[in-house]
Amino acid sequence: MEKERKLIVAGNWKSNKTVAESLALVGDLKRELAAVKEVDIVVCPPFTALESVSKAILDSNIRLGAQNMSENGYGAFTGEVAAGMLKEFSVGYVVLGHSERRQFQKESDALVARKAAAAHAANLVPIVCVGETLAEREAGITDRVVETQVRGSLAGLTPEQVEKTIIAYEPVWAIGTGKTATSAQAQETHAMIRKVVVAIHGDSVARRVRIQYGGSVKAANARELLSQPDIDGALVGGASLEVRSFADIIKNSI
Ligand code: PGA
Repeated sequence: MEKERKLIVAGNWKSNKTVAESLALVGDLKRELAAVKEVDIVVCPPFTALESVSKAILDSNIRLGAQNMSENGYGAFTGEVAAGMLKEFSVGYVVLGHSERRQFQKESDALVARKAAAAHAANLVPIVCVGETLAEREAGITDRVVETQVRGSLAGLTPEQVEKTIIAYEPVWAIGTGKTATSAQAQETHAMIRKVVVAIHGDSVARRVRIQYGGSVKAANARELLSQPDIDGALVGGASLEVRSFADIIKNSI
C-alpha cells in the first residue's frame, strides 16, 4: 500500500569524518542516489563539514542537516551554533535531543522543545529524537517514557509546526548496538506516538507527521522496518558512514 507520507532517510554522521572524507562520501552518494525521487534523503555531517558538503550537494537530491543547534539566537553563548548560522549553509534539517545529547549533555525535553521552536522560527525542520533505555523497556514503561518525551519535546509548538516536525523514535538500547527493535516492536511504538500526536493536535496533524525509526538500521532490515504502516523513514548512524550501506538502505526502502 502506498504511504501517504513520503519516506525520509537521514544519515547522522555523529562526530565522524574530516572535510575530505565528508566530500568523498557525498560525492559517492550523489552518484549512487541520483535517480531516487521516492525518498527524501538527508545527510547530517559535523558542523565543520557543513559548508563543504553544502556546496557539494547543491545540484543534487541530497539535503543537508545539522546534528544540534542552540536554543538561542546570536549572542554571548560561547561554543553554541545558532539557527541563523546553519541557514548560511542551506541547512534544512536539524537533529535535536538525540539520546547521546540527552545522556552526555543532559538535554531535557524542555530544552529540546525550546530548540525545536527556534528551529521552526528559522524555517529549519527539526528531527526530534525520543526513545526508551533498556532498563525502561524491561520495566514495562516504554509507552509512558516515550509519551512524556514526545509531549515535552514538542511542547509549545503550533499544530502547523508539529506537522512539519520529524519525530525519530530511537530505542536507546538499539543505537550502535546491532540490536534492532523488531518491526512489530517498532510499529507498536510508532503507532503509540502517532496517537499521542492525535491527542495533542488531532487527526490531520497526526496523519501528516513523519516518524522515523532509528537504532542499528542497515540495508538488511530497512525494507521490513520501513514497510510498517507508521514508520516513515529512518535515522541512520553507523550505516550512514559508508556509501554502500547508506545507499542500499535507501534503495531497499523504495
Ligand atoms: P545507529 O545510530 O544506526 O548507529 O544505531 C542511530 C542514531 O543514533 O541515530
